[in-house]
Amino acid sequence: MTPPVRTTPYDPHHSPAGGVPTRAEETTMHATTTLAALTGRTAAQQPYWPDPDAVDTVERELAGLPVLTPEDEVVDLMNGMALVARGAALLVQGGDCAERFHEAVPDLVRRKVDNLQGLAAIMRAGSGLPAVALGRIAGQYGKPRSSPFETEESGAGRKMPSYCGDAVNEPEFEPAARTPEPRRLLTAYTCSQIVLDEIRRSWSGRPVLERVYTSHELLLLPYERPLVREGAHGTYSGSAHFGWIGERTRREDGAHVALAQAVHNPVGVKLGPTVSPEDAVALSRSLNPEGVPGRLTFIVRFGAKEVDELLPPVVRAVARHGAPVVWLCDPMHGNGLKLAGHKTRLIEPMRAETAAFVRTLREHGQWPAGLHLELTPDPVTECVSELDRPPRFTDYRSTCDPRLNPEQSADMVTHFLSLL
Ligand code: PEP
Ligand code: CO
Repeated sequence: MTPPVRTTPYDPHHSPAGGVPTRAEETTMHATTTLAALTGRTAAQQPYWPDPDAVDTVERELAGLPVLTPEDEVVDLMNGMALVARGAALLVQGGDCAERFHEAVPDLVRRKVDNLQGLAAIMRAGSGLPAVALGRIAGQYGKPRSSPFETEESGAGRKMPSYCGDAVNEPEFEPAARTPEPRRLLTAYTCSQIVLDEIRRSWSGRPVLERVYTSHELLLLPYERPLVREGAHGTYSGSAHFGWIGERTRREDGAHVALAQAVHNPVGVKLGPTVSPEDAVALSRSLNPEGVPGRLTFIVRFGAKEVDELLPPVVRAVARHGAPVVWLCDPMHGNGLKLAGHKTRLIEPMRAETAAFVRTLREHGQWPAGLHLELTPDPVTECVSELDRPPRFTDYRSTCDPRLNPEQSADMVTHFLSLL
């Protein structure tokens, strides 16, 4: 069963003054129109909120709050992404599959930031190029799911809504915990604010290019829409410096693509096995109509088994007929499996997919810009090696997808660099 899709009318916070619009106003009008078009678009993967009015109230409250990421920071990141697009810098994007509210505490955030900065430093040292660091952080609180419901594996076999991230519900398998609660969207905002404060503390004294920037999946529309604002350069998202559209929500005519079209932030799209070369070309054009370098990143996650067959035609088509894109390899989301009752990923296929990615991009004269990883600064055993028999999940903490620990993350980045 698919939960009913709800869309709330968008209330633009800006209406251009009368008379002949200036160029900036034209851009604004265009963006506002595009965003208004969201109302009629299908929004995939929205939770079934039991009380739609409460969602509207939350959306209005969010619209009255300050942005999390001001436009000048978004522009700073865009300048870094432009270097990445030209092959003059590398990119590492990483963090939790799903952030947790209770983890929005300074000490842990600091360790996450240090971990990412360490990976960027490895990239710089290994390549002699600058490396942009993007966290899956300060807003990665909403999750798309392959099924809207989940059935208990043991006991009574109860069926309940899936966990959709802390912005929606709680992971505990209990009816009260799993019921989507819209006020959690406000908590997501507050936690993101706390996390961002700590991230900004880490910026002091660092060049703009060596800062950790924030990113998350642009998924929950009642959260994203009210944080879209007008700035000096047009419409932008104040929910993150960079936002991406997931593999399950990248329909060309869907609401998520319209949202990303409406803002001038750098944005990404995950591309998995069901994408056709034509889809990829169309997405590149509609999300980057002016061909701005760094505006659009394709995060490819085909899986080690299919990458050799599926990636080359996509890269070829986009290079020939599409708008410019940054190519990033996510070696994790196409390589999931279940072992000893745990959702896990094996190191070897992730290394293999990374190698196939670099080789394919090189063969097509494109820049393999870097890696998108799920990782944590904690010494977890969530991803394992084929060489460990039997695999031991002695420290498994993720409520969603399995993450790389610091040693595994550094190895993956070093492996990537050795292929460049
Ligand atoms: C994710 O990045 O956690 C995710 C759900 O990815 P994808 O959209 O590629 O499946
Ligand atoms: Co994930």
